[in-house]
Amino acid sequence: MSSENEQIQQQATLRQHIETTVTNLFAPEDDSLRYALQAAKEEGLPEIQITPLEGKLLQFLATVSNARKILEIGSLAGYSGIWLARALPADGHLITLEVNPRHAEVVRRSFERAGVGQRCEVRVGKALDLLPQLGPEAPFDVIFIDADKAPYPQYLDWALTLSRPGSIIIADNCVRAYREPQNTADENTRGLLQYDQKASSHPRLLSLALPMDEDYTDGLTISVVLPA
Ligand code: SAH
Ligand code: DHB
Ligand code: MG
Repeated sequence: MSSENEQIQQQATLRQHIETTVTNLFAPEDDSLRYALQAAKEEGLPEIQITPLEGKLLQFLATVSNARKILEIGSLAGYSGIWLARALPADGHLITLEVNPRHAEVVRRSFERAGVGQRCEVRVGKALDLLPQLGPEAPFDVIFIDADKAPYPQYLDWALTLSRPGSIIIADNCVRAYREPQNTADENTRGLLQYDQKASSHPRLLSLALPMDEDYTDGLTISVVLPA
């Protein structure tokens, strides 16, 4: 191997070492989180949940904003939902929207197992069909967007409708669109890029993107809703 390749390899190993150490220190998974991952695996669900540090960041953001009502779009197996629900007080409420009934069943089991079943509700259906029904339950203090990518800009519009000044809106996966931003034939890439365009320029949002997965090629876009 050329020395340049060796150097790249060394840097990757070092980054991995740091990521593992920091994750073990600040975001270790307990039995409940591991159960959600295991249940997902056994049911053949894709392994596309957020990372532990991203989960801890969601929990952190929900905690600093004193969240009582949280909305999640895209539940998968309940992994991110557990991190979020742990920031809620006993009388808090998390609603998570999931199109796949099989996924929803796993989520409900994972929530029960994690002891957050009382505060969490899984609604089954397409997010764009369910979001218009949420008016009476709004405003949400935290909204986490992590479902299909093409409608991300519409999900952001709904998040603004269902929030209040001070609400925090987080979207997973926009950062990955910068791997191939010229690939606008792909509706997912288009949706993710438009989301970041909108989040970064909207007069009622203060936003940033954090590349924060293992190799910094994906991450979270975070916004706070400003006063009107
Ligand atoms: N937030 C989860 C990962 C979500 S993966 C975690 O980090 O643990 C994306 C999920 O969105 C999948 O379960 C998928 O079935 C769901 N999904 C896809 N399209 C959807 C839609 N239109 N409405 C609601 N959920 C959808
Ligand atoms: C995919 C979706 C996600 O939400 C994610 O975090 C990673 C991958 C996907 O559909 O491939
Ligand atoms: Mg995601």
